[in-house]
Amino acid sequence: MSSVNRLIPIASGKGGVGKSILTANLGVALASLGLNVVLIDLDLGASNLHSLVGVQNTRMGIGGYSHKGASKLDDLMNDTPYERLKIVAGDSLLPGSANIPWWFKKRVLTELATLPADITLIDLGAGSSYNTIDFFLSSRTGIVVTTPEPTAMVNGYSFVKNSYYRLLFRLFPSRTPERELIRNWAYQNRDRGEGAAIELFDALERSFPGAGRKAKSLVGAMNLSVLLNDYHDDKEMESWKNLASVSDKNLGMPMTHIGSIPHDSQVRTSAFSRIPVVVSDPDGPFSRGVGSIASRLAGAPA
Ligand SMILES: Nc1ncnc2c1ncn2[C@@H]1O[C@H](COP(=O)(O)OP(=O)(O)OP(=O)(O)O)[C@@H](O)[C@H]1O
Ligand SMILES: [Mg+2]
Repeated sequence: MSSVNRLIPIASGKGGVGKSILTANLGVALASLGLNVVLIDLDLGASNLHSLVGVQNTRMGIGGYSHKGASKLDDLMNDTPYERLKIVAGDSLLPGSANIPWWFKKRVLTELATLPADITLIDLGAGSSYNTIDFFLSSRTGIVVTTPEPTAMVNGYSFVKNSYYRLLFRLFPSRTPERELIRNWAYQNRDRGEGAAIELFDALERSFPGAGRKAKSLVGAMNLSVLLNDYHDDKEMESWKNLASVSDKNLGMPMTHIGSIPHDSQVRTSAFSRIPVVVSDPDGPFSRGVGSIASRLAGAPA
């Protein structure tokens, strides 16, 4: 086992695009490649990841964190039916990600990095709440899932854009003039597209020498990817480019294409059987798509 636990947060702008299904199946696929994998359900208040890998949520989930019993994420890891695959389940004790206390988020973020695993997949709730975005920004290599539907694309871009501004805001504490400049700039340029980000960095640099450069290098270090799920034809399969190119042009934040996964009726069947598709139908189109993404993730440098 390597000493570095790679965090891969899995997010989306629109709900129901396949994050949890993909997290579960990617986890099983990565474990079968020999990696020690942890799945963590941070879709607080609407958790279902455990059931997708056939685990009953009878033991303590992440909600146990707020109680005296378990004080470490490590203690909340449960076995799954799959070798090398562990899960920290979600918890109905927690009302929703908008309501978690600050200490909880901070502690989860600190401890995630030290979990004894090669890779941790973080299943997030849909949308751009601050807590979700902060979990998403726990790593530079987050994955944004979208389907080819225009609404999923638009919301996917909103999520990326909100993450971008959250990154910049975190760089400059509140009530600093740098943060004020970014806020005003974002407001004044809210409808502008191409190349706008570069001008923001320039404006920052002009007013606060060094600040623009710092912001640009932070954004440039991000390596987000887009996962296109549930496509029906070749044209839809390629539609990940819409999100990647708008993120590049508008925010100066290019996104890698981690893979495209076709619509597959076996996905629904597996939800009833609680057996992941990569196990029940390993040679089907969904499983092949997941398999190639897993190989890519396994081969990527830590
Ligand atoms: N490639 C696919 N082919 C067919 N059905 C799919 C595919 N991907 C996902 N689905 C279906 O889409 C639905 C939503 O999947 P899932 O619950 O994983 O989405 P989600 O993004 O986690 O949703 P939420 O935002 O509510 O957490 C499920 O019913 C699942 O079976
Ligand atoms: Mg989900």
